[in-house]
Amino acid sequence: MTLNKTRGIWIAGNWKMNHGVQEAEAFWTQLASALSGFKPGSGVRGMIFPPFLSLERSVAAVRKLGFAIELGAQNAHGAPKGAFTGEVSAAMLKEAQIGWCLVGHSERRQFFGETPQSAADRARGLLDQGVRVVFCIGETRAEREAGRTLEVLKRQMAPLFEAVPRDWDGRLVIAYEPVWAIGTGLTATPEQAEEAHQGLRRLIWDALGMEASGRTPLLYGGSVTPENVTELLAKANIDGALIGGASLKAESFAKLLRAGAAALT
Ligand code: PGA
Repeated sequence: MTLNKTRGIWIAGNWKMNHGVQEAEAFWTQLASALSGFKPGSGVRGMIFPPFLSLERSVAAVRKLGFAIELGAQNAHGAPKGAFTGEVSAAMLKEAQIGWCLVGHSERRQFFGETPQSAADRARGLLDQGVRVVFCIGETRAEREAGRTLEVLKRQMAPLFEAVPRDWDGRLVIAYEPVWAIGTGLTATPEQAEEAHQGLRRLIWDALGMEASGRTPLLYGGSVTPENVTELLAKANIDGALIGGASLKAESFAKLLRAGAAALT
Protein backbone atom coordinates (compact mmCIF):
# COMPACT_ATOMS: atom_id res chain seq x y z
CA MET A 1 0.00 0.00 0.00
CA THR A 2 1.41 3.37 -0.93
CA LEU A 3 -1.11 5.58 0.84
CA ASN A 4 0.42 8.09 3.13
CA LYS A 5 -1.29 7.32 6.43
CA THR A 6 0.23 10.22 8.31
CA ARG A 7 -2.61 10.35 10.81
CA GLY A 8 -1.95 6.75 11.88
CA ILE A 9 -4.60 4.05 11.97
CA TRP A 10 -7.14 4.05 14.77
CA ILE A 11 -8.90 0.84 15.75
CA ALA A 12 -11.48 1.75 18.39
CA GLY A 13 -13.91 -0.68 20.00
CA ASN A 14 -17.20 0.59 21.45
CA TRP A 15 -18.58 -2.08 23.76
CA LYS A 16 -21.84 -0.18 24.37
CA MET A 17 -23.85 -1.84 27.20
CA ASN A 18 -21.91 -5.12 26.98
CA HIS A 19 -19.13 -6.72 29.03
CA GLY A 20 -19.45 -6.24 32.76
CA VAL A 21 -16.41 -6.81 34.94
CA GLN A 22 -16.21 -10.57 34.49
CA GLU A 23 -16.69 -10.53 30.73
CA ALA A 24 -14.21 -7.68 30.45
CA GLU A 25 -11.63 -9.69 32.39
CA ALA A 26 -12.17 -12.63 30.05
CA PHE A 27 -11.84 -10.36 27.01
CA TRP A 28 -8.47 -9.00 28.15
CA THR A 29 -7.13 -12.46 28.93
CA GLN A 30 -8.21 -13.71 25.51
CA LEU A 31 -6.85 -10.61 23.77
CA ALA A 32 -3.44 -11.16 25.35
CA SER A 33 -3.24 -14.63 23.85
CA ALA A 34 -4.80 -13.61 20.52
CA LEU A 35 -2.13 -10.94 20.17
CA SER A 36 0.88 -12.80 21.48
CA GLY A 37 3.86 -11.91 19.35
CA PHE A 38 2.03 -8.98 17.74
CA LYS A 39 3.95 -5.71 17.75
CA PRO A 40 1.48 -3.12 16.55
CA GLY A 41 4.10 -0.45 15.89
CA SER A 42 3.73 3.19 16.68
CA GLY A 43 1.22 4.01 13.94
CA VAL A 44 -1.66 1.86 15.20
CA ARG A 45 -3.82 3.32 17.97
CA GLY A 46 -5.89 0.60 19.62
CA MET A 47 -8.72 1.88 21.80
CA ILE A 48 -11.60 0.38 23.75
CA PHE A 49 -14.63 2.13 25.27
CA PRO A 50 -15.97 -0.24 27.98
CA PRO A 51 -18.99 0.53 30.17
CA PHE A 52 -18.10 2.57 33.28
CA LEU A 53 -18.06 -0.37 35.68
CA SER A 54 -15.53 -2.29 33.60
CA LEU A 55 -13.15 0.62 33.11
CA GLU A 56 -11.07 0.24 36.24
CA ARG A 57 -10.32 -3.45 35.71
CA SER A 58 -9.60 -2.71 32.07
CA VAL A 59 -6.94 -0.17 33.07
CA ALA A 60 -5.26 -2.82 35.21
CA ALA A 61 -5.54 -5.44 32.46
CA VAL A 62 -4.09 -3.17 29.79
CA ARG A 63 -1.09 -2.46 32.00
CA LYS A 64 -0.28 -6.16 31.89
CA LEU A 65 -0.82 -6.53 28.14
CA GLY A 66 2.63 -5.46 27.06
CA PHE A 67 1.43 -2.89 24.54
CA ALA A 68 -0.76 0.13 24.71
CA ILE A 69 -4.50 0.08 24.26
CA GLU A 70 -6.07 3.42 25.12
CA LEU A 71 -9.24 3.38 27.18
CA GLY A 72 -12.20 5.70 26.99
CA ALA A 73 -15.62 6.21 28.55
CA GLN A 74 -18.79 6.06 26.49
CA ASN A 75 -20.21 9.22 28.04
CA ALA A 76 -19.36 11.98 30.53
CA HIS A 77 -20.66 15.39 31.52
CA GLY A 78 -18.92 18.57 30.40
CA ALA A 79 -19.28 20.38 33.73
CA PRO A 80 -16.57 19.94 36.38
CA LYS A 81 -18.97 18.76 39.13
CA GLY A 82 -22.42 19.29 40.53
CA ALA A 83 -26.01 18.13 40.74
CA PHE A 84 -26.15 15.96 37.61
CA THR A 85 -27.57 12.65 38.77
CA GLY A 86 -26.26 9.71 36.81
CA GLU A 87 -23.36 11.57 35.23
CA VAL A 88 -19.60 11.25 35.53
CA SER A 89 -17.09 14.11 35.25
CA ALA A 90 -13.84 14.60 33.37
CA ALA A 91 -11.92 14.72 36.66
CA MET A 92 -13.38 11.34 37.66
CA LEU A 93 -12.28 9.84 34.35
CA LYS A 94 -8.79 11.25 34.66
CA GLU A 95 -8.48 10.01 38.25
CA ALA A 96 -9.27 6.54 36.90
CA GLN A 97 -6.66 7.10 34.16
CA ILE A 98 -9.23 7.29 31.38
CA GLY A 99 -8.07 9.70 28.72
CA TRP A 100 -10.84 9.55 26.12
CA CYS A 101 -14.61 9.86 25.88
CA LEU A 102 -17.14 9.22 23.12
CA VAL A 103 -19.47 12.14 22.46
CA GLY A 104 -22.51 12.40 20.20
CA HIS A 105 -22.91 8.72 19.41
CA SER A 106 -26.12 8.22 17.43
CA GLU A 107 -27.55 6.05 20.22
CA ARG A 108 -27.08 8.96 22.65
CA ARG A 109 -28.78 11.24 20.10
CA GLN A 110 -31.60 8.77 19.41
CA PHE A 111 -32.37 7.45 22.90
CA PHE A 112 -31.01 10.04 25.34
CA GLY A 113 -31.86 13.38 23.79
CA GLU A 114 -28.34 14.41 22.74
CA THR A 115 -28.48 17.27 20.22
CA PRO A 116 -25.77 18.84 18.06
CA GLN A 117 -25.52 21.68 20.60
CA SER A 118 -25.44 19.52 23.73
CA ALA A 119 -22.88 17.21 22.12
CA ALA A 120 -20.71 20.21 21.20
CA ASP A 121 -20.99 21.64 24.73
CA ARG A 122 -20.08 18.28 26.22
CA ALA A 123 -17.07 17.99 23.90
CA ARG A 124 -15.94 21.49 24.82
CA GLY A 125 -16.24 20.83 28.54
CA LEU A 126 -14.31 17.59 28.32
CA LEU A 127 -11.57 19.01 26.09
CA ASP A 128 -11.17 22.00 28.40
CA GLN A 129 -10.62 19.61 31.28
CA GLY A 130 -8.08 17.45 29.49
CA VAL A 131 -10.18 14.53 28.27
CA ARG A 132 -9.81 13.78 24.57
CA VAL A 133 -12.93 13.21 22.51
CA VAL A 134 -14.12 10.92 19.74
CA PHE A 135 -17.02 12.93 18.33
CA CYS A 136 -19.58 10.87 16.38
CA ILE A 137 -21.82 12.12 13.59
CA GLY A 138 -23.83 10.53 10.81
CA GLU A 139 -26.99 10.63 8.76
CA THR A 140 -30.09 8.42 8.85
CA ARG A 141 -31.18 6.29 5.93
CA ALA A 142 -33.93 8.76 5.00
CA GLU A 143 -31.44 11.64 5.02
CA ARG A 144 -29.03 9.72 2.78
CA GLU A 145 -31.80 8.73 0.39
CA ALA A 146 -32.86 12.37 0.19
CA GLY A 147 -29.28 13.31 -0.80
CA ARG A 148 -28.81 15.27 2.42
CA THR A 149 -25.80 13.47 3.91
CA LEU A 150 -23.35 16.36 3.74
CA GLU A 151 -25.91 18.87 4.87
CA VAL A 152 -26.58 16.72 7.96
CA LEU A 153 -22.88 16.35 8.73
CA LYS A 154 -22.52 20.12 8.42
CA ARG A 155 -25.42 20.70 10.82
CA GLN A 156 -23.96 18.26 13.34
CA MET A 157 -20.47 19.76 13.10
CA ALA A 158 -21.43 23.48 13.17
CA PRO A 159 -21.86 23.86 16.96
CA LEU A 160 -18.67 21.85 17.48
CA PHE A 161 -16.69 24.27 15.32
CA GLU A 162 -18.03 27.12 17.46
CA ALA A 163 -17.30 25.32 20.70
CA VAL A 164 -13.93 23.66 20.39
CA PRO A 165 -10.62 25.35 21.02
CA ARG A 166 -8.74 26.00 17.77
CA ASP A 167 -5.81 23.89 18.95
CA TRP A 168 -7.92 20.73 18.92
CA ASP A 169 -5.16 18.77 17.20
CA GLY A 170 -4.45 15.45 18.76
CA ARG A 171 -7.31 15.82 21.19
CA LEU A 172 -10.31 15.43 18.93
CA VAL A 173 -11.11 12.60 16.55
CA ILE A 174 -14.24 12.54 14.39
CA ALA A 175 -16.13 9.30 13.74
CA TYR A 176 -18.46 9.24 10.75
CA GLU A 177 -21.11 6.64 11.56
CA PRO A 178 -24.10 6.51 9.24
CA VAL A 179 -27.04 5.58 11.46
CA TRP A 180 -28.33 3.08 8.88
CA ALA A 181 -25.05 1.15 9.06
CA ILE A 182 -24.79 0.85 12.86
CA GLY A 183 -25.53 -2.64 14.12
CA THR A 184 -27.37 -3.53 10.91
CA GLY A 185 -24.72 -5.45 8.99
CA LEU A 186 -25.12 -2.83 6.24
CA THR A 187 -21.67 -1.30 5.93
CA ALA A 188 -21.24 1.82 3.83
CA THR A 189 -19.19 0.94 0.78
CA PRO A 190 -15.61 2.20 0.95
CA GLU A 191 -16.60 4.70 -1.75
CA GLN A 192 -19.59 6.01 0.22
CA ALA A 193 -17.48 6.31 3.37
CA GLU A 194 -14.61 8.00 1.53
CA GLU A 195 -16.99 10.48 -0.09
CA ALA A 196 -18.42 11.44 3.31
CA HIS A 197 -14.92 11.70 4.79
CA GLN A 198 -13.79 13.96 1.96
CA GLY A 199 -16.81 16.17 2.58
CA LEU A 200 -16.01 16.21 6.29
CA ARG A 201 -12.42 17.17 5.66
CA ARG A 202 -13.64 20.07 3.51
CA LEU A 203 -15.98 21.19 6.30
CA ILE A 204 -13.10 21.20 8.79
CA TRP A 205 -10.91 23.05 6.29
CA ASP A 206 -13.56 25.75 5.81
CA ALA A 207 -14.11 26.16 9.54
CA LEU A 208 -10.65 25.71 11.00
CA GLY A 209 -8.19 25.80 8.14
CA MET A 210 -6.05 23.46 6.14
CA GLU A 211 -3.77 22.25 8.91
CA ALA A 212 -6.53 21.22 11.30
CA SER A 213 -8.30 19.52 8.42
CA GLY A 214 -5.23 17.59 7.35
CA ARG A 215 -4.35 16.47 10.84
CA THR A 216 -7.74 15.41 12.23
CA PRO A 217 -8.22 11.64 12.22
CA LEU A 218 -11.53 10.59 10.66
CA LEU A 219 -12.84 7.16 11.64
CA TYR A 220 -15.60 5.25 9.90
CA GLY A 221 -18.12 3.30 11.98
CA GLY A 222 -21.07 1.08 11.10
CA SER A 223 -20.88 -2.72 10.85
CA VAL A 224 -17.10 -2.79 10.46
CA THR A 225 -15.70 -6.33 10.70
CA PRO A 226 -12.31 -7.99 10.20
CA GLU A 227 -13.62 -8.95 6.75
CA ASN A 228 -14.41 -5.46 5.48
CA VAL A 229 -11.98 -3.26 7.41
CA THR A 230 -9.04 -3.58 5.01
CA GLU A 231 -10.86 -2.10 2.01
CA LEU A 232 -12.18 0.74 4.17
CA LEU A 233 -8.72 1.54 5.53
CA ALA A 234 -7.36 1.55 1.99
CA LYS A 235 -9.17 4.84 1.34
CA ALA A 236 -7.09 8.00 1.66
CA ASN A 237 -9.36 9.80 4.11
CA ILE A 238 -10.32 6.87 6.32
CA ASP A 239 -7.93 6.85 9.26
CA GLY A 240 -9.50 4.07 11.24
CA ALA A 241 -12.69 2.50 12.47
CA LEU A 242 -15.07 2.72 15.41
CA ILE A 243 -16.37 -0.78 15.89
CA GLY A 244 -19.28 -2.02 17.97
CA GLY A 245 -20.31 -5.66 17.54
CA ALA A 246 -17.02 -6.90 16.09
CA SER A 247 -15.03 -5.41 18.98
CA LEU A 248 -16.71 -7.59 21.60
CA LYS A 249 -14.78 -10.77 20.89
CA ALA A 250 -11.05 -10.63 21.57
CA GLU A 251 -10.26 -12.78 18.55
CA SER A 252 -12.10 -10.41 16.25
CA PHE A 253 -10.62 -7.26 17.84
CA ALA A 254 -7.15 -8.77 17.47
CA LYS A 255 -7.83 -9.32 13.76
CA LEU A 256 -8.93 -5.70 13.42
CA LEU A 257 -5.71 -4.51 15.08
CA ARG A 258 -3.65 -6.68 12.75
CA ALA A 259 -5.53 -5.31 9.75
CA GLY A 260 -4.79 -1.81 11.04
CA ALA A 261 -1.09 -2.59 11.25
CA ALA A 262 -1.16 -4.09 7.76
CA ALA A 263 -2.77 -0.92 6.37
CA LEU A 264 0.33 1.00 7.43
CA THR A 265 2.81 -1.20 5.63
P1 PGA B 1 -21.45 -1.59 14.95
O1 PGA B 1 -21.48 -0.27 15.89
O2 PGA B 1 -20.03 -1.83 14.57
O3 PGA B 1 -22.01 -2.68 15.80
O4 PGA B 1 -22.29 -1.28 13.76
C1 PGA B 1 -20.66 0.82 15.62
C2 PGA B 1 -20.90 1.92 16.61
O5 PGA B 1 -22.05 2.14 17.00
O6 PGA B 1 -19.94 2.60 17.05
